[in-house]
Amino acid sequence: MTTRTFFVGGNHKCNGNKASIKALVSELNKVESKSNVEIIIAPPSIYLDYTQSLVDSGKIQLSAQNCYSETKGAFTGEIAAEMVKDLNINWVIIGHSERRSIFGESGELLAKKTKHAIDIGLKVIFCIGEQLADRQSSKTEAVLSAQLGDLKSLDKKQWDSIVIAYEPVWAIGTGVTATPDQAQDTHKYVRSWLKDNIDETVAAKTSIMYGGSVGAANCNALAEKPDVDGFLVGGASLIATDFSTIIKSAS
Ligand code: G3P
Repeated sequence: MTTRTFFVGGNHKCNGNKASIKALVSELNKVESKSNVEIIIAPPSIYLDYTQSLVDSGKIQLSAQNCYSETKGAFTGEIAAEMVKDLNINWVIIGHSERRSIFGESGELLAKKTKHAIDIGLKVIFCIGEQLADRQSSKTEAVLSAQLGDLKSLDKKQWDSIVIAYEPVWAIGTGVTATPDQAQDTHKYVRSWLKDNIDETVAAKTSIMYGGSVGAANCNALAEKPDVDGFLVGGASLIATDFSTIIKSAS
């Protein structure tokens, strides 16, 4: 039986300031978690260095919310994966549904970003997820297969640096959370896709986080599901008491 790391990630999106980050981290530094649980918080990139100076690095890791696919150059507004690494930050979120829908990031670009981030030594939380219309028309697996297919050219070793975050778009920021069974069924599909398209070992050891209106009230039931290996939390990660409860719910 493979024991997978359980990740509790907090995606702050475009929220917060130095004062709110300081207050949040001061509380999160006090939280005790089990040995197989890893806590990762992703403040806005402008606050990464500041947040890094505040966290108990033995308890909390940082992640960028995005990075570009190139090392450096005339890409105004972008941050390079190398810059994230330069801050001794080891994680980056790539392919969040908001990057895909609002900023029009293609599967091809996301694959290029992912490969580049891994090649320079970062670990990647790669986000996938279907729209409500896809779920309602039984296209969820087809959508996830296409999104995962963008990573098909990665070699098995590169998969050691990837965690998948399944975030049904219809659950993000809506208060409508996937039921534990919906999450389990979809995570089980993702794992089967990895087994069929990458390999059995990668499928067994790759952690699959759930994201989409995770909160203190629903985290325990979700965490009990065998293929739910963590959470990627948005709104509730900005609230110290809620995010602490979610961390404690971890298997
Ligand atoms: O990346 C996590 C985020 O998309 C989930 O947001 O507010 O539904 O927890 P939220």
